[in-house]
Amino acid sequence: MTNNSDAKTIANLQVRSIENQRELEEMYYQRWLILRAPLGMEQGTEQDKYDATALHVVAVCDRKILGSARLRELSPDIGGIAYVCVLPEFQHQGIGTKLIQKLIEKAQDKQIKTLRLRSRITAQEFYQRLGFSTEGETFDYLNVPHVVMNLSLPALGVR
Ligand SMILES: CC(C)(COP(=O)(O)OP(=O)(O)OC[C@H]1O[C@@H](n2cnc3c(N)ncnc32)[C@H](O)[C@@H]1OP(=O)(O)O)[C@@H](O)C(=O)NCCC(=O)NCCS
Repeated sequence: MTNNSDAKTIANLQVRSIENQRELEEMYYQRWLILRAPLGMEQGTEQDKYDATALHVVAVCDRKILGSARLRELSPDIGGIAYVCVLPEFQHQGIGTKLIQKLIEKAQDKQIKTLRLRSRITAQEFYQRLGFSTEGETFDYLNVPHVVMNLSLPALGVR
C-alpha cells in the first residue's frame, strides 16, 4: 500500500465500539493474528471468559478493522485494559493512541478512577506517552516480559 493510500485510510478512520457479530469475529481474528500467532498459539487462544461482558473498541476504515482494544470493570473504581493491537502495516500512525483515548472516555463515563493493564515491555513506551506509569517488577506472561501499568483518570467534566 502506498503512503498516499495510507494517508487516505487514516483520514477515514473511525474509533468506536464494536457494532455487530461480523466485526466481533474480524476483531478476534485480528487479535489472534497480532498477539497470539507470533507466539505460536492457536486460534481461539485470543479469547477469554471476560470478552462476552467487556467493552470492545475498534479502529475501522472502509469497514476494515485496523486495530482494537478491550475495557472491563475489575471493580467499580478500576478498569482493566487488554488486547490492545494494531495491524503491523498500520502501526506508528496514531491508531493505538486513539484506541486508548477512546477507552479513557468510556472509562470516565463509567466513573472509573484508575485504568490498569499488563504491558509487554515492547509497548511500555507507548503507554508511558499516554500517561501510564509502571508498577512493580517485570514478569513473564506467555513467555513474554510484561509490566503492570496504571493511569489515574481525571473526573468527568475536567477533560
Ligand atoms: C503497541 C501498539 C498497540 C501501538 O499502536 P500504534 O498504532 O503503533 O501506536 P501509535 O502510533 O499511537 O503510537 C506509537 C508510539 O508508541 C510507541 N510504540 C509503539 N509501538 C512500539 C513498539 N513496538 N516498540 C516501542 N515503542 C512503540 C512509540 O513511542 C511510538 O512512537 P513513534 O510512532 O513515533 O515511533 C502497536 O504497536 C501494536 O499493536 N503492537 C503489537 C501488539 C502489542 O504489543 N500490543 C500491546 C500489548 S500490551
